[in-house]
Amino acid sequence: TAPLKVAVLGCGVVGTEVVRRLHSSAPDLAARIGAPVELAGVAVRDTRRPRGLGLDPGLWTDDPLALVKRGDIDIVVELLGGTEPARSLAVAAMEQGASVVSANKALLAEHGPLLHESAARHGVDLLYEASVAGAVPLLRPLRDSLGGDRITRITGVVNGTTNYILDRMTETGGGFAAALREAVDHGYAEADPTADVEGLDAAAKAVVLAALAFGVRVPPADVRREGITGVTAADVADARALGRVVKPVTVLERPTGRDGVLLRVHPAMVARAHPLAEVRGADNAVLVEAADAGPLLFRGAGAGGVPTAGAVLGDVVAAARRRVLGHRGAAPQTLVARSGAVPGAR
Ligand code: NDP
Ligand code: HSE
Repeated sequence: TAPLKVAVLGCGVVGTEVVRRLHSSAPDLAARIGAPVELAGVAVRDTRRPRGLGLDPGLWTDDPLALVKRGDIDIVVELLGGTEPARSLAVAAMEQGASVVSANKALLAEHGPLLHESAARHGVDLLYEASVAGAVPLLRPLRDSLGGDRITRITGVVNGTTNYILDRMTETGGGFAAALREAVDHGYAEADPTADVEGLDAAAKAVVLAALAFGVRVPPADVRREGITGVTAADVADARALGRVVKPVTVLERPTGRDGVLLRVHPAMVARAHPLAEVRGADNAVLVEAADAGPLLFRGAGAGGVPTAGAVLGDVVAAARRRVLGHRGAAPQTLVARSGAVPGAR
């Protein structure tokens, strides 16, 4: 069988691990997919920086658009971050008939409908399981396994950086700045950690979850948002004295007596017995409440290169399998949000 060509855009915290695994797990991936996977190119800003991956030098490029426009790429893995040029590159890739895998919640929150339309128009997959809760399988269960149920509420810790910071402040009594530096050093934070500590990253994830769980499109600016920069050591100590712990929570709920959903991101004092109170380090946990299923807890590694790369590769395998089977047209594995108005979201 002809190899499937994969282009990776971005070789930072996550991209490095994806490229490493595409190489080291090649035989295993080929067996799962039914065809070999070939790394066709890796786009970065600085092609001269040594990255210790031992790749053929000809694979590196600082021109991601030329790479996706080559026309022979089967799957484009977007791991750049931010909305541009990620959006234009994803659209260009789909126009060329490539499936797109992304971990970029900012991109999906801002341009999800446009990208889904493009995927449907070109009959390719658009998959982004890693974009919310890192390694934790969450988006497919929401869309597929719970597709016949009615989700009523989602409560989660979906940002690893802020959970790590508050966890360190709680457990060691350490300061905010030192804990943030550690989170950056571990590779948990966004390129600009303001997105983490001001709640923008969690708000983008809430928008992605709302589309899948409730079928509504909520503009990111409509998420009620408060960051964790105002949380002090005294707040953490007060919470402890009350048998509680400060957590960065994200809530999606249907307000009583109103249509639509309300999305909010903010620090909250959580009772020690609550499942979210036990989430440590950069882990994430998401409690999904559904009419038939009742409460379901999804929990695990929410950030970091290796765990996130595993989720990205899962999408690569899913998209690759469909291409091997020759599936085109409306892609059932594409995580398409049901269209819907957003009454009451403001
Ligand atoms: P990094 O900042 O570590 O890496 C970004 C990479 O993209 C770098 O290799 C950079 O090149 C490259 N890049 C950025 N802009 C361009 C451009 N215009 N042209 C070419 N290359 C470019 O990001 P992460 O790996 O941490 O994150 C990637 C994505 O994954 C983001 O969307 C993030 O939100 C998401 N994500 C991250 C997680 C994590 O734990 N870090 C977890 C889940 C999702 P260069 O190396 O030359 O600077
Ligand atoms: N910066 C993000 C976080 C990465 O800390 O959760 C995972 O999406």
